[in-house]
Amino acid sequence: MDNKLLLSLEKKYKSPLYVYDANKIISQYHKLRDAFEGVKKLRINYAVKALSNISVLKLIKDLGSNIDCVSIQEVRLGLKAGFKPQEISFTPSGISLEEIEKAVALGVKINIDNLVMLNDFGLRHTDIPVSIRINPNIMAGGNKKISVGHNKSKFGIPTYQIDQVKEIVTKTGIHINGVHMHTGSDILDISVFLKGAEVLFSVAKQFNNLDFIDFGGGFKVSYNNDDPATDIEEFGKIISKRFNDFCNEYGRDLEIVFEPGKFLVSESGNFLAKVNVIKETKDVTFAGIDAGFNHLIRPMYYGAYHHILNISNPKGKEKKYTIVGYICETDTFAEDRMVNEISQNDILCFKNAGAYAFTMSSNYNSRLRPAEVLVFNDKDYLIRKRETFEDLLHNQIEVSLDQ
Ligand code: LLP
Repeated sequence: MDNKLLLSLEKKYKSPLYVYDANKIISQYHKLRDAFEGVKKLRINYAVKALSNISVLKLIKDLGSNIDCVSIQEVRLGLKAGFKPQEISFTPSGISLEEIEKAVALGVKINIDNLVMLNDFGLRHTDIPVSIRINPNIMAGGNKKISVGHNKSKFGIPTYQIDQVKEIVTKTGIHINGVHMHTGSDILDISVFLKGAEVLFSVAKQFNNLDFIDFGGGFKVSYNNDDPATDIEEFGKIISKRFNDFCNEYGRDLEIVFEPGKFLVSESGNFLAKVNVIKETKDVTFAGIDAGFNHLIRPMYYGAYHHILNISNPKGKEKKYTIVGYICETDTFAEDRMVNEISQNDILCFKNAGAYAFTMSSNYNSRLRPAEVLVFNDKDYLIRKRETFEDLLHNQIEVSLDQ
């Protein structure tokens, strides 16, 4: 997105500010669909947790995507955005049967990731088909925290428990209509997806009444110019062929499902923050900004790289800065990073701030969450107001204890 436009949006809406480029979301969506044009039935379930603003969900819906939700609140957001219940998949982890029941009552597709819940569910709802999440026992993902398909991960049913799944099916009469996996996020190597796919095929063969196979999300996007992304075209070609062969073997055309979060929204996002202070010490030049890890936690939590541009001085001489936030504990966005010369009040732009950025923000240090703006064809739409002090107090109850 153009620097001039971003600067004008900061002037209009103030910092810190999230700005999303709708056109980028649209082009990523088309790129994904095109990559899988070799399969007969494709379903894309956008992973709502990446960016759950209702206006973004509406855009995703208008593109023709379905959604994947992990909490009853995400389901309700999806319904409010206009998705039909059957366009919503519910893939929670470790939640109560009560919450699953709420999703059932709303009519969404249910995906279950453990034997206990499958059994409980089967005893209550023989008539409602469910899919099962499989743990393929694969270590995949950009870092350990986001690798969720390995044998010590809490997610999914291990393949050695499939016999127990079958026992539950026999006992309860429940209908398994899909098999699912999600092995991690930021997965570059397509051979990892293919390895997981083979595990799913071997499980799928054991259930003769499936409608779909869901390979989850996890495609890696580029975080700066030289950073490679998952080769989605190549992956699309290979998996489409393999999937079609599997369907022939299975005797029926199944639906292939993917659940991308980052792929669709990461690159659409820009996070704008203003420089409060330049602090020079013997060892470091700090640029302190009017935001913190309460707004964008990925660098501190995962050690994630976000490209940072000084959009106020894009042609300035590059210098080394440690860019820090205003939270009162270590709060580092980038260490010893070369950035065009920074002065007080300059606006810095953090790239790839569309996925897991606003949705992971908090009020730590009693800071307020930023506003969000969606830009479509150069027109800007405020899609979330900046929080106010009143919002911070909204649910607090003031009691005075008589001591
Ligand atoms: N499907 C399921 C069941 C998931 O749990 C996730 C993400 C996705 C799909 C989408 O994955 P994606 O395509 O976005 O990689 N907060 C971390 C990423 C955590 C992902 C959690 N699950 C980060 O900022 O890197």
